[in-house]
Amino acid sequence: MAAASREPSPKKPRPKPQGDDRDMEHDPNRVLIFDTTLRDGEQSPGISLNAAEKLEIAQQLARMGVDVIEAGFPIASPGDFEAVQRIAREVRGPIIAGLARANPADVERAGEAVRDADRPRIHTFVSTSDIHIEHQLQATRDDVKGLARASVAQARALVEDVEFSPMDATRADVEFTAEVVQIAIDEGATTINIPDTVGYAIPDEYRRYLQRLYELVPDLRNVVLSVHCHDDLGLAVANSFAGVLAGARQVECAVNGIGERAGNASLEEIVMLLHTRRPDIRLFTGAVTGEIARTSRLVSRLTGYPVQPNKAIVGRNAFAHESGIHQDGVLKERSTYEIMDARSVGLEDNQLVLGKHSGRHALRQALEELGFEVDGQALNVAFKKFKDVADKKKQVTAMDLEALVTDELRDQVQGYSLEWFDVEASSRRPPHATVGVRTPDGEVVQGSFTGDGPVDAIFRAINTATGIDARLREFRVDAVTGGEDALGETSVVVEVSGQSAAGQGVSTDILEAAGQAYVRALSNGVRRARIARELEPISGRAPELAAP
Ligand code: KIV
Ligand code: ZN
Repeated sequence: MAAASREPSPKKPRPKPQGDDRDMEHDPNRVLIFDTTLRDGEQSPGISLNAAEKLEIAQQLARMGVDVIEAGFPIASPGDFEAVQRIAREVRGPIIAGLARANPADVERAGEAVRDADRPRIHTFVSTSDIHIEHQLQATRDDVKGLARASVAQARALVEDVEFSPMDATRADVEFTAEVVQIAIDEGATTINIPDTVGYAIPDEYRRYLQRLYELVPDLRNVVLSVHCHDDLGLAVANSFAGVLAGARQVECAVNGIGERAGNASLEEIVMLLHTRRPDIRLFTGAVTGEIARTSRLVSRLTGYPVQPNKAIVGRNAFAHESGIHQDGVLKERSTYEIMDARSVGLEDNQLVLGKHSGRHALRQALEELGFEVDGQALNVAFKKFKDVADKKKQVTAMDLEALVTDELRDQVQGYSLEWFDVEASSRRPPHATVGVRTPDGEVVQGSFTGDGPVDAIFRAINTATGIDARLREFRVDAVTGGEDALGETSVVVEVSGQSAAGQGVSTDILEAAGQAYVRALSNGVRRARIARELEPISGRAPELAAP
């Protein structure tokens, strides 16, 4: 299917988001949603999104009505820079932020990447905990004050909207953190974010920490206080909520809770907590809750990170009732055992159905309903792929179309692609596979292998054809929808020269989906290994503090 874009077309403006209260952006009870799926989330092991995939996620985040998209860490690599710049140029609505350590090169690069956004933000940070200052920065508290002062001042000269984070704040001396926060506000920071970087805080302690900061820095009332909590002890959402009760009006979170180590506070949980308990808490967000399920599926699909079945809000069992007593209650009156309606997060919204007799016009309309604008040649390619699937599958649903369109994005990087495969499988002989793989130079190379199973034989034949020693780390198969003819979706994680990378594939044929996923993972792995060789590792140590 051809590349799809979610830009609103000039003739058909994007409908106004139906969030809790989009127009009340400056209401003191409005909690801003700062999404860091593309930055902190993308730092999860094995995730390697290309620029087209990041753009697609950013467009969907805008559709869901988040207030800020942290699009990446522009100094980290040319690919990160390009993705942040494309998002800044193409995504309308949210503020677009780029992350920068507190040093001139980082701030400069972040400023350049977000410059073309309607509302650009630079987010700069430096640690205030002694553990980080001594061991990682190998600096002094005075150095940290100087770095905070200089980086916020530099960022403010580039953009009006500057966020400052004292990293590892919850393990730092609150008095020293307050001094650094005051410096950042004096230099013009407009948002102060207090990270629980290692997920160590507990809710009451975090709330008291923020209350103490308010006492020590009265100017904190003139800027937006933000919370950024990690989930190492499973408390990220509880801590974020405690922060909101203490006065924070921005929550940093990630779709499906992905992020460093155990991840970040999960966006869908924060949004639905405030939405469901609004009558009691009286706080609200501008998020369009009906877009949550689709955003979760998109992120899971493109990152290759599955959502656990019992995950709050977006897990496939989050609204399922197993016990007879519960089923009986729900049948009589939904509210007996349900505090939210599945439709309010966009679940059970798979009504749209196309079949093999549906035409180009119907496909285009269906894609538009899903938010994809596809015209001209792109529509022709999309139609061909749709027909291929519709020939094998009786009904093509909204979920199938979503999976196919997402799959198309994966081919937009220069890499290897699976041209064809043959597998001989039998219970009496080891399976044998032969594959044809197109290399980035356009040449088709062949390889064969006799493996332990048909999937193993295909994967190893791909290694033989490309000459790349990729090691399989994970392999997963899911069905996009129910039913015997469901599309199969596979996810593969490989390791290439010490770099792990993921790839996904969708097809009515599981073996084909597995082969596609493997070559994509292998392409991502080769790209990551090359970047790792070319770039200095990103460290928390500010370059100007480097030993002479
Ligand atoms: O966890 C953290 O401290 C961060 C900062 C960069 C805000 O991600
Ligand atoms: Zn973080």
